[in-house]
Amino acid sequence: MKRLICISNRITLPRRSAAPGGLAVGVLAALRHTGGVWFGWSGETNDNPADEPEVLTRANIRFATIDLRPSEFDRYYNGYCNSTLWPLFHYFPGRFRHEQDEHDAYQSVNELFARQVMKLVEPGDVIWVHDYHLIPLGRLLRQLHFRGPIGFFLHIPFPHAQVLRLLPNYTELVRDMCHYDLVGFQSEDDLRSFFSCVEHAGLATVAPNAQEITIGGRTTRAGVYPIGVDFEVVRAEAEAAMSEDSVQRMITSLVGRKLIIGVDRLDYSKGLTERFAAFEHFLETFPENQGKVTFLQIAPLSRSDVLAYSEIRQSLEQMAGRINGRFAEADWTPIRYLNRNFTHGTLMGFLRAAKVALVTPVRDGMNLVAKEFVAAQDPEDPGVLILSPMAGAARELTGALHVNPYDKRGMALALQTALNMPLEERRQRHQQMLEAVRRRDIHYWYGTFLQDLTGERRVPAVPASPGSATTGAARPVLRSLGMGS
Ligand code: F6P
Repeated sequence: MKRLICISNRITLPRRSAAPGGLAVGVLAALRHTGGVWFGWSGETNDNPADEPEVLTRANIRFATIDLRPSEFDRYYNGYCNSTLWPLFHYFPGRFRHEQDEHDAYQSVNELFARQVMKLVEPGDVIWVHDYHLIPLGRLLRQLHFRGPIGFFLHIPFPHAQVLRLLPNYTELVRDMCHYDLVGFQSEDDLRSFFSCVEHAGLATVAPNAQEITIGGRTTRAGVYPIGVDFEVVRAEAEAAMSEDSVQRMITSLVGRKLIIGVDRLDYSKGLTERFAAFEHFLETFPENQGKVTFLQIAPLSRSDVLAYSEIRQSLEQMAGRINGRFAEADWTPIRYLNRNFTHGTLMGFLRAAKVALVTPVRDGMNLVAKEFVAAQDPEDPGVLILSPMAGAARELTGALHVNPYDKRGMALALQTALNMPLEERRQRHQQMLEAVRRRDIHYWYGTFLQDLTGERRVPAVPASPGSATTGAARPVLRSLGMGS
C-alpha cells in the first residue's frame, strides 16, 4: 500500500488538545487507518523558524510541523485565509477584503509548505491536501517534480461564480484547483459551483453532470464526499458520559427543564445572532415556555484577532445579556452562553441530554455537530434536530426540522414543534437520520476519497444494518472533535 501524506494548515499533535473541526477528525481517521505523515503548521509563530520540519512519530503516524514567522502568519491566516477566502466562500461578500500583501503571504506560505513537504516525500507516496488555506499547493508540488497522485478536499462551501468573481485573482485560484488529480467537495451544490467557476473563468466547458474537466491536456476529477462522524465512538462516548460528574451536574442544574443545545465554534457563519434572536422571539410568542426550557449555547472562541470575530463576540454577549435581563427569574436563566470548550466525551453527554439541538448556520460546509447529535441520542426517546438547509448535513438528515436561520418566526415555530413532538414521530425522524449517519461515517468518507484518488481499495466496508458486524479492513477507533466542519 502506498504511503499517505496528509497536509493541512492546522494539525492535532499527540497529547495536545485536539484541533477544532471536522478536518482534524477526518485526517486522523484516515492516517490511523493507512499510516503515513501529517504535515502542517505547528500552531507556533517564531521569528527564526527551523530549516527542517520537526517530526514526531506515534504508532503508524509521523507528525511533521513547521513554525511560521509572526508577520507572515498574520497576513496568511488572519488576512488572506480568514478575511478573504473564508467570508467569500461562505457567501459573505460584505465581510470580505482583498489586500495584495495578504495574497502574497498566502502564496509564500504555500511555497514554504511545498518545499518542506518535498523533504519528506518518498517514491510512491500519495498526497492529500486539505482545505482553503492550501489551494495552490498541488501546483507548487508539481513544480517541484512530485509525480504521485495529489488529491484536494475542501471542508468548507465553494461559492458560485457570481460570488467568487469578486476576488480579483479568482481565475488563478480556480486554475490552481485544476492542478489536482481529484478534488472533493462536501455537497453537490459545491461541486456545481466549482464547475460554474471553471466555466466563468473560461478554463473549460463543463458538460451537465460532468465529473471531470480537462485543461491543457491535464484531467482533474471532481466529486462529492460528504464527511461523517465516527458513529460507534460517538454513541459509546455519549452513553458513557451520562454517568460523568460534569454531565450529571449539568442535568441536575436543569431541575427538570427541557434542554435546548447549540455547539459551534464562535463564527459569524454559524448563525448565532440569528439563533439568539429567534430564541427571544420564541419566548415572546410562546410564553408558556418561560421558565420551562434552558438554552445552552457552547461557543468556543476562534480567530480572535480577526475583527469580524471580535464583533460577533460582542454582539452575542450583548444579546445574551439583554435576553436574560428581559426574561430571567431569580431561579431561571433562559440562555447559558459559554465561550469555553469541553472534552469531546462531555460534549457528547450534553448532546444526549438535550431535547432539541439548534444547528442553524447561515452557511456551513457540512456541520458535524448535527451528525453527532443524531449519533449521541437515545433511539428509544430521541430529541429533535432543528437544522438549517444552509448546512451541508441537511441533504442527508432529512428527518430534521429544516428551517431558514433568517426566519425568526419559522425558527420559533420549529422550537415549539420540536418541544411538543410526540414520541412516535421523534423516533421515526431519528431512525432515518441514524441510518444516514451510520452508513456514511468518517471511515466511509476517507475510504471512498482515497479509493478514487489511488484506485486502491481502502474503504472499510459499511455494515448493512444497525448493529451488524463490519467486514473488510479494520475500523479504527477515533475520538472526534465536535465543532462541525
Ligand atoms: O473546517 C474548516 C476549518 O477552517 C478547518 O480548516 C480548521 O481546521 C477548522 O475549521 C478550525 O479553524 P481554525 O484552524 O481557523 O481554528
